[in-house]
Amino acid sequence: HKHLLGLSDYSREDILYILEQAQYFREILDRPVPKVPTLRDKTIVNLFYENSTRTRLSFELAQKRMGADVVNFSTGSSSVKKGESLKDTIRNISSMKIDMVVVRHESPGVPHFLTRCVDAAIINAGDGAHEHPTQALLDLFSMQRIYPELEEKHIAIIGDITHSRVVRSNILGLRKLGAKVTVCGPKTMMPAFVEELGAEVSYDIEETLGWCDIAMALRIQLERQDEGTELFPSIREYHQLFGITMEHLRKYPDVTIMHPGPVNRGVEMESRVADSDRSIILSQVTNGVAVRMAILYLLSGGTRV
Ligand code: CP
Repeated sequence: HKHLLGLSDYSREDILYILEQAQYFREILDRPVPKVPTLRDKTIVNLFYENSTRTRLSFELAQKRMGADVVNFSTGSSSVKKGESLKDTIRNISSMKIDMVVVRHESPGVPHFLTRCVDAAIINAGDGAHEHPTQALLDLFSMQRIYPELEEKHIAIIGDITHSRVVRSNILGLRKLGAKVTVCGPKTMMPAFVEELGAEVSYDIEETLGWCDIAMALRIQLERQDEGTELFPSIREYHQLFGITMEHLRKYPDVTIMHPGPVNRGVEMESRVADSDRSIILSQVTNGVAVRMAILYLLSGGTRV
């Protein structure tokens, strides 16, 4: 592959290959000097039109750990504020001789669009409510560290499904690896596409937690709700109906808790759940650096490490 636009384009073998390479880079992260100069001759632009903490910083860290030249673009301090179009922006950046672009944008399809504007490799770091493939790959990698074989494992994804790009990429990846996926949340946040992608739907948190090996909570995306419409259920009702509690952890002692972040503490889960030893939320973030190193390495033309 030249680009990583979404997991819909990647096969089971492609995904397993990335996860295998990520294991090599994950071991490097535990070394006293966690660096490998494999991208020394590459120049990478991180093009973030939308806010990010984890994805942006972990891409930048991954690039620096591999010795790439890195430039960071964020709209607030750029000529986008003067009205410059996306196409002009990317063509100007491309004229500075770059090899790869990591892009996050609020509109679905922007990474695909960029492939037609420039010759560089494009990596989707989240496009609207469409896909977030590097998040799903780091989630799969984190799950594999608990269950090396994900075939037939039961994975629940709980939360605001309608506005989530993480859910689509995760269902695609998990189904390709043979895992069973149940998506759980309020009817008002449940789009039809999840069943088309091969996931089951549940509206019952107890049934879901009783079934699953891993429960991944997703953020209630207040900023993507339609303006003027009242959130239904309300935040308080959502927490009562779908929030993961310490009582749940006692009742379902084998369930591991994940969340891509940022967590709305007290909404998707009780604060103590996020900080408990059953949560691997911060390990997901550490693993994200290794997974992004593997993706950068492979898309830059690297072969098996
Ligand atoms: N998980 C995730 O994409 O977080 P950021 O929005 O902070 O990058």
